[in-house]
Amino acid sequence: MAAGLTIALTKGRVLAEELRLLAAIGIEPEEDPASSRKLVFSTNQDDVSIMVLRGMDVATYVSHGIADIGMSGKDVLLEFEGSSLYEPLDLKIGRCQLMVAGLAEEPALPARMRIATKFTHTAKRFYAAQGRQVDIIKLYGAMELAPVTGLAHRIVDLVETGNTLKANGLVAMELIEEISTRLIVNESAYKTKSARIKSIIGALEGVL
Ligand code: PRP
Repeated sequence: MAAGLTIALTKGRVLAEELRLLAAIGIEPEEDPASSRKLVFSTNQDDVSIMVLRGMDVATYVSHGIADIGMSGKDVLLEFEGSSLYEPLDLKIGRCQLMVAGLAEEPALPARMRIATKFTHTAKRFYAAQGRQVDIIKLYGAMELAPVTGLAHRIVDLVETGNTLKANGLVAMELIEEISTRLIVNESAYKTKSARIKSIIGALEGVL
């Protein structure tokens, strides 16, 4: 894969929108990644291939230079601890908000709250910046259950429509970050494949 250009996409809700953006700049996979078990796809452009990965893995593959370019949510980029990434473009898809949420009818809270989240680094930074001491509990999904069951006092999670919070008797309380999908580029690929990568960035800017 070294000679050509590899683009890593995030699977899940945002994949269709990512593929639409690529199609708009003339890059189309030879089969539909949404309905295939394959992980790497050749495209209508001989030198371009596409990988479809979990969100956090997109940043890892791009940071290690296995993929040259990636499309990754700001939520996972905030958590990512690696380096060697440029973030040249907000792709303005996958928009949502990273919020603190808690029970609509919240009981008295202790001075030191338990916060359930999968965004542990971001949550730690958020509370540290406010000088508030909290205990972070790492969860991998269904965060909304934590305040309902008493596992945690509040959660830090993504909110899009707010339906999941509402369905579980929770309300959004504090905004941590506006989230959207970003284009990320491996720093050394940006130098060695500069013309090709700049033309893709320029084309994406044109269609946004
Ligand atoms: C996300 C997030 C919330 C929900 C918010 O979960 O963790 O649970 O979406 O969306 P809403 O405000 O429109 O209800 P997702 O469905 O992506 O699954 P996950 O828990 O596996 O991340």
